[in-house]
Amino acid sequence: DTRTVQAYRASLLHFHADPAFAENAHAWHRDGLLVVENGRVLAAGDYDKLAATLPDGTDVVDYRGQIITPGFIDTHLHFPQTDMIGSPAPDLLPWLENYTFPTERQFKDPVHARTIAEFFLDELLRNGTTTALVYCTVHKESVGAFFEASAARNLRMAGGKVLMDRNCPDFLQDTADLRDSEDLIRRWHDHGRAMYAITPRFAPTSTPAQLGAAGELARAYPTTYIQTHVSESRDECAWVKSLYPDNRSYLQVYEHHGLMRQRSMFGHCIWLDDVDFALMADTGAAISHCPTSNLFLGSGLFDVAKADSVRAHVSLGTDVGAGTSFSMLQTMNEAYKVARLKGSYLPALRMFYLATLGAARSMQLEGTIGNFAAGTEADFIVLDPKATPLLARRTANGDSLEETLFALALLGDDRAIRATYAAGKRVHERH
Ligand code: GUN
Ligand code: ZN
Repeated sequence: DTRTVQAYRASLLHFHADPAFAENAHAWHRDGLLVVENGRVLAAGDYDKLAATLPDGTDVVDYRGQIITPGFIDTHLHFPQTDMIGSPAPDLLPWLENYTFPTERQFKDPVHARTIAEFFLDELLRNGTTTALVYCTVHKESVGAFFEASAARNLRMAGGKVLMDRNCPDFLQDTADLRDSEDLIRRWHDHGRAMYAITPRFAPTSTPAQLGAAGELARAYPTTYIQTHVSESRDECAWVKSLYPDNRSYLQVYEHHGLMRQRSMFGHCIWLDDVDFALMADTGAAISHCPTSNLFLGSGLFDVAKADSVRAHVSLGTDVGAGTSFSMLQTMNEAYKVARLKGSYLPALRMFYLATLGAARSMQLEGTIGNFAAGTEADFIVLDPKATPLLARRTANGDSLEETLFALALLGDDRAIRATYAAGKRVHERH
């Protein structure tokens, strides 16, 4: 018998719908049991009902007092920017020029790329993030380093080689010939748990020829991801208008080049207009809202209510290293405040949805990750509502689920992640 069944007793929280649009979108089992077989979810439910179904002798890990949720999904960040997080600059464009480009230069060296990729993935796991959509650098060496480190941990990760063939230093410039990207797709896409993302950095650093080639590559490999930046800072938007005068909007530059489809992920989306939001919804593309980055660089405030009004896919990204934290809890904290400043409100349940099933749906991965439906990959985290002395006091009073999650989002960070599991194996434990 090759069955390996493992069970975890804790409170369980996961989603089967978006709480902004459906009643009873979440499942909550105060005394719950998560049953995992060979790296996949076998069942999730009440301990009382499921305990009797376990094969004789099944090991039950006791996490009572903790909350198990699906692992967080971070839909926008840059692994090569790990060592430059928290570098000050007055705006996006000087930040790129003064810190980002010199930092990314070092990733031609595969030894350096490997060192940073390993630290980066371990840092994600310490923060409870089990899947991410990741920018590498323009160097193919950086992509190999990223996917090798990810495969060694058996993580479901997406990433790709940055494309930029103008308006960047010579040492980071490539061309409209996307042979390296295609080789990397063949080498990595859907190998194990790896997924490839075609990654034009943003419209200002690509010629129309390169964006067109990226669109063609995306058509040839329709299950790959596409990731880029759009409408982040006002100076950037003005620059795009001058570089692409024939396009109605910044977002439509990407549409025009065949880069809007399901599995396209657009970081930031702050300065989109109504036509752009409708285009996002109609094409099935997705938004990555990156609040810690947007507040840090002073880029602007994303309008989640606008995205919801057209039912566009929305997810959350840390955008490390412009983002100031690897923690999706801290990202929720700042998303909450950005929503307030835009006159709307993000309940904690909605933010946990956005960081799990909402992101999985944005990436067309529902059924694979994002909740505890039977057969999904067992990527999950153990959240400790008493992780710090302050959290312990704050959550001591028999609060509602919403209040407990809200306290975790506002006060929590990596300390609240008691353990992280990927495909049923523990990959982080807090000491
Ligand atoms: N726009 C183009 N490149 C980048 C980047 O690396 N970070 C952010 N935040 N915005 C960008
Ligand atoms: Zn970014």
